[in-house]
Amino acid sequence: SGGAVVAAAATSGAVVARASADDTSTAGRTVDPEGNSPRATAVEPFYGAHQAGVATAPQAHAAFVAFDLRSGSDRESVARLMRVLTDDARRITQGQPALADTEPHLAVLPARLTVTFGFGPGLFAATKTSDQRPESVAPLPAFGIDRLKERWTGGDLLVQICADDPLTVTHALRVLVKDARSFAKVRWTQRGFRRAAHSQQPHTTQRNVMGQLDGTVNPVAGTPDFDRAVWFAGEQEWLRGGTTLVLRRIRAEMETWDAADTVAKEFTIGRRLTDGAPLTGAREHDEPDLARLTPAGLPVISEYAHIRRAHVADPGARILRRVYNYDEGVSADGTADTGLLFASYQADIARQFIPIQQRLAEADLLNEWTTPIGSAVFAVPPGCGPKGWIGETLLS
Ligand code: HEM
Repeated sequence: SGGAVVAAAATSGAVVARASADDTSTAGRTVDPEGNSPRATAVEPFYGAHQAGVATAPQAHAAFVAFDLRSGSDRESVARLMRVLTDDARRITQGQPALADTEPHLAVLPARLTVTFGFGPGLFAATKTSDQRPESVAPLPAFGIDRLKERWTGGDLLVQICADDPLTVTHALRVLVKDARSFAKVRWTQRGFRRAAHSQQPHTTQRNVMGQLDGTVNPVAGTPDFDRAVWFAGEQEWLRGGTTLVLRRIRAEMETWDAADTVAKEFTIGRRLTDGAPLTGAREHDEPDLARLTPAGLPVISEYAHIRRAHVADPGARILRRVYNYDEGVSADGTADTGLLFASYQADIARQFIPIQQRLAEADLLNEWTTPIGSAVFAVPPGCGPKGWIGETLLS
């Protein structure tokens, strides 16, 4: 079976698979002193104009951790923190243990690990750089549908950890939290998952916990529309090549969703559950016909359907949804604590995210079954080179 996984990895193109089919025969061997594993796996580049973990094809597992800076933090201490965390990230993403890594054996299977940093409003305040903060990198306006809980909201510094292997995520989280500890306190961690790596054909749209194909209409990495939609191009020069992240924790009300029938579920979104095709089309990527009427003269795709309310015509002005599911188990009576970690990247929150969220909050059929319970906003700095560190354009 190891061979099958390797073959699948090789055909996915985006990954560098160096594992061998006799992988299991090496069990019990130790890592060499350089930290190089005889079975290094898929590696995502760390250095570049953009941080990894945004345009990167979504890995199967994610942990988002938000920190609050300790009081007394200033530009110098935050710069020091970012140097340390950048060093950790550049090592562990490449399959090397971090400095003083207490579990170096866990570092050698990066499984496409990416570590992505984001700066919340409090970081700008602490480092006296608020004049460099894009205005919309701030708590979102309150929406009528919100039931936000403090424990899932806000944060000064975000670390987003994604990998195709959950143990890799756990190790990375441990390394980064330990190294941040003297500078910052953990405010919250949120874990999410998508389909297991290689369990589907590459470029297949995932299903979310509500059973829908989720991610059909999304900017495509490597296209000019993606670049325009995602990478910051505003007046703050330090953020050029970066982006912004809105992370919403959205509970799925599975008890009542389960009670809805297929017609209601499809009407709510405007797409079919079987294949994700719009109610006016035959295939997933067919363009929805928002003008089409039923024989009774009503729109086939409802005025209140999620895809009509969320639609943005200009492909270069869309948001990038890089969504994970969460599942925190069930209560004694079997009620699920589950939903989406709705991660949205965009060049400009005010111009892109907020108008969509406003239209959805006003009248989206889906609101009946979903509840935003957490919300956080971050500026995601550009990437760095081998001598640099993430955040240098703001803090050095
Ligand atoms: C489309 C589910 C929340 C923005 C969709 C689709 C589904 C879906 C099934 C259709 C397939 C696709 O294009 O991906 C959900 C669920 C949510 C949720 C279950 C909450 C639990 C949100 C939020 C926003 C949003 C909070 C933004 C504020 C969009 C956009 C599209 C979309 C922009 C594409 C619309 C188009 O066709 O142009 N969503 N969504 N969604 N959703 Fe959501």
